[in-house]
Amino acid sequence: MIPIAKPVIGEDEISAVTAVLRSGVIAQGRKVEEFEEAFAEFIGTKYAVAVNSGTAALHIALMVHGIGEEDEVITSPFSFVASANSILFTGARPVFADTDEDSFNIGPDRIADKITPRTKAIMPVHLYGQPCDMKKIMKIADKHKLVIIEDACQAHGAEYEGKKAGSFGTGCFSFYATKNMITGEGGMITTNDEGIAQKARMIRTHGQKERYLNEILGYNYRMTDIAAAIGLCQLAKLEDFNNKRVRNAKFLTEKLSEIKGLVPPHVGPNAKHVFHQYTVRITGDFAISREELRKKLLDRGIGTEIYYPRPIHRQPFYEGLGYKDRLPNSEKAAGEVVSLPVHPSLTKEDLENIVRAIKGV
Ligand SMILES: Cc1ncc(COP(=O)(O)O)c(C=O)c1O
Repeated sequence: MIPIAKPVIGEDEISAVTAVLRSGVIAQGRKVEEFEEAFAEFIGTKYAVAVNSGTAALHIALMVHGIGEEDEVITSPFSFVASANSILFTGARPVFADTDEDSFNIGPDRIADKITPRTKAIMPVHLYGQPCDMKKIMKIADKHKLVIIEDACQAHGAEYEGKKAGSFGTGCFSFYATKNMITGEGGMITTNDEGIAQKARMIRTHGQKERYLNEILGYNYRMTDIAAAIGLCQLAKLEDFNNKRVRNAKFLTEKLSEIKGLVPPHVGPNAKHVFHQYTVRITGDFAISREELRKKLLDRGIGTEIYYPRPIHRQPFYEGLGYKDRLPNSEKAAGEVVSLPVHPSLTKEDLENIVRAIKGV
């Protein structure tokens, strides 16, 4: 079976975890600090704050910027539901701006159309590992004095004009088990602002700066040293993992681009895409339907997935909240996309099998 995702765990992760277990310091300790320092250096920000999920990172990032009731945050409807849910956690309202047809990322022009006096922040989601059009988004944010909270949960090491995703605004990352680098569950907030980093650390531990002195509302969003030890090993290998993903994506695009009705991923001119997912569109011109294609690939031992079959505003929970928007690009994408395996463990033979299986239909 060629799975859609496969974490790469080596002996170094296993010994690093064993060493933490033997050390007796298992919860947030020195390893977490080491991981934060290394991650901040990698992203190119002054600070990084480790937490226990990408969702926690997004929630804290919104809280530290004071976003709450009566506020609106503009984000993408075509993402994992955690992006918008984290906005709801604060009492603010997610406002969805439709995505661009090519990149699947939020369309800067459509962001501008959604700004109201209540808008406090923009949350661009760097979907599938491709950075959003940050030049245009930063310009809009500057003009309207809006905070940028980047959902970089799928974009570790992605770059826009040579600058890493997560370093434009307050960056949020996930280290969930299928991501480009993993800690099992885990997350990180990146920032150049010391005040933001300090407040994020407080919210991570029930709003305390000093032990048992609780100054603001916080949560238990702490990362363990076990997770941080895995994260340090994975971070050291991230460039290699990403290079392999990019190489695999290049191979697939070269071989699949001639097929009628199959549209390979579009990479923007200023973007370094790190292919968390390799996602193609299956249009009406393709020989068979998307579902039939997935079934045929599964019969040949090739896993695929649809990220995401429903845009967030069409989820029952969001419809129940009164969302009635019609966002045609996101809705079309949800009906057409399918992700193929692109992870670093794929062999040349695996890649050839994927191409052969698709060409076979
Ligand atoms: C775009 C996006 N945002 C947010 C999240 C939430 O991250 P986590 O699952 O670590 O809470 C994920 C991860 O699944 C994601 O892909």
